[in-house]
Amino acid sequence: MAVPTQSPPRARSDWTIPQDWDRYTAQEHAVWDTLFARQTGMLEGRVTSAFRRGLDVLRLSRAGIPDFVELSQRLEALTGWRVVAVPGLVPDDVFFEHLANRRFVAGRFIRRPDQLDYLQEPDVFHDLFGHVPLLTDPAFADYMQAYGAGGLRAQQFGALQKLARLYWYTVEFGLIREGSGLKLYGAGIVSSFGESKFALDDPSPNRIAFDLERVMRTDYRIDDYQQSYFVIDSFEQLRRQTADVDFAPVYRRLEQLPVLAPDAILLTDKLITRGTMWLTPSAERGAKACAAGVLLGLYGRQHGDLFQCAAFARLKPQQAAPSRPLEIKDLWARPACQALWTGG
Ligand SMILES: [Fe+2]
Repeated sequence: MAVPTQSPPRARSDWTIPQDWDRYTAQEHAVWDTLFARQTGMLEGRVTSAFRRGLDVLRLSRAGIPDFVELSQRLEALTGWRVVAVPGLVPDDVFFEHLANRRFVAGRFIRRPDQLDYLQEPDVFHDLFGHVPLLTDPAFADYMQAYGAGGLRAQQFGALQKLARLYWYTVEFGLIREGSGLKLYGAGIVSSFGESKFALDDPSPNRIAFDLERVMRTDYRIDDYQQSYFVIDSFEQLRRQTADVDFAPVYRRLEQLPVLAPDAILLTDKLITRGTMWLTPSAERGAKACAAGVLLGLYGRQHGDLFQCAAFARLKPQQAAPSRPLEIKDLWARPACQALWTGG
């Protein structure tokens, strides 16, 4: 999606606009409440404890879309961050400038009731629910500021793409070790009903221990669940590797190395789980996996597995995630899965 180069007429020079909280309708507040209830239920036991603490201290469980001014007062008292409204996607330099000054930019619009599971552009639910709770964690808050400062420098080196990969695989789609297992922390995952399950439980993706230079070399998918997730040990690890670090030598080194595909595995990787890649961007392989799942009964009996199979078959998630467990015959009855099997 193209980002405009000039701030819109009603926006300030830093692209911020008033949230106009009073103008939200009852239906828009109700969409927030529906998303909030559904997502907090899905995240139970899956998300990092820092995120849950953030929800609590920011009192995000209160009904309705949060007021940015009130939310910012609580957040600023904790880590010095504020939330500011912008009309949509903003240019890189504007984005970095805000982050470097501890301002998180958020869209103020909310998706329609018929768009609960899919949006092209981040809305207020993704931006607030997904991103803001972790800004209460001091180490993560410092990392985000360091990222903004790093972005301003990266522009001089033509290294924005490398830095964008770091954001993607940490801030948006990161996993963290916690206790004896893995937990979610990336905003793109925690604000997505389907990916909250897929990223942790599905056998398809690789899960690889975080390595900054490795991540900066790895392409990513923007149109589907990730093929690889990178796992940090702590937010302190992110802070240590970015705050006051000069990336210039890193960028020079990476210029000599090839970019890696999203599903690549290197001999030097610390692999936590090797993905089966059953859910791949290749329609042919995906269709075979789905059809095989129908036949073997591997994917039909459990709600979540069916969700992914059906998602691949382009069913609407509401249709694919009914309230009762489905049997194989139910899955087989779905026209989209039949079409995959028969090649239609
Ligand atoms: Fe985001």
